[in-house]
Amino acid sequence: MKGIILAGGKGSRLAPLTNVVSKQLLPVYNKPMIYYPLSTLMLAGIKDILIISDDNNLKLFKKLLGNGKNLGIKLSYKKQIAPNGIGEAFLIGEEFIGKDSVALILGDNIFYGNGFTGKLRESISYNTGATIFPLYNNNPKNFGVIEIKEEKIISLEEKPKIPKSNYIVPGLYFFDNSVIKKAKNTVKSPRGELEIISILQQYLDEDNLHFTNLGRGMIWLDAGTFDGLLEASNFVQTIEKQQGIMIACLEEIALNNGWITYDEIDYNNSSNSEYNNYIKSLIK
Ligand code: TTP
Repeated sequence: MKGIILAGGKGSRLAPLTNVVSKQLLPVYNKPMIYYPLSTLMLAGIKDILIISDDNNLKLFKKLLGNGKNLGIKLSYKKQIAPNGIGEAFLIGEEFIGKDSVALILGDNIFYGNGFTGKLRESISYNTGATIFPLYNNNPKNFGVIEIKEEKIISLEEKPKIPKSNYIVPGLYFFDNSVIKKAKNTVKSPRGELEIISILQQYLDEDNLHFTNLGRGMIWLDAGTFDGLLEASNFVQTIEKQQGIMIACLEEIALNNGWITYDEIDYNNSSNSEYNNYIKSLIK
């Protein structure tokens, strides 16, 4: 399975923070936001990853993450000319996906919790059709909402006025290769976007939309608003300070996956940042 991080967007809810830089480059506590979705794909075992953003920010993402060799992964980059919708990722990424299946994660989505890696890997191995990762949410009106009956998804609605359940669809999806064809079949919505929900609906119509229950021990944060950004930073700080472990340390995940050796870790030896010190402690 290949992976795509969609890291463009208008970022209008975070203006003026996003007037000159992509929100995915803003800090979530001690690392740029994009580290978190990248860590999710790496935890899933995905090594071939495409980052999509606008022209200006792509240069910055390349400067930050390079070709991924230092993490034992392969990173490529493609531009989205305008924020024409999440579903456009599969048209921009058509050549990159080739004949493979693909995971899509939104650049401002942060997942953390017990057993997450195992659930991701299980979902890849069982993946046919599309798989989503619904989460219980107190305020489902603002999200895509699914209805589940007898372990099957029976309906899917975007921002419903009267939600049929409290289960929402966060920005992480696994797709088989037919997603490219489905994205091409999708008509743009009245707001001019190629909606991900329209693609998921086609899978549902084929009885091929599946879900993995991440359970209660899972935290999901959408860092696309001022409060979301601060909550995410506070959450990461709390866990890291209390437990002494780091969330989304890319070098650590690459090491644990056996993709690089200790000798191959590339870090700034002279920097005294906590991130660098953590890597030094791993090496020791
Ligand atoms: P959104 O939160 O829908 O939109 P946004 O990032 O443009 O922000 P705002 O609503 O504040 O204007 O996007 C979710 C994620 O998907 C975010 O990481 C940006 C990304 N995205 C793209 O890269 N391209 C797109 O065309 C869209 C719609 C979103």
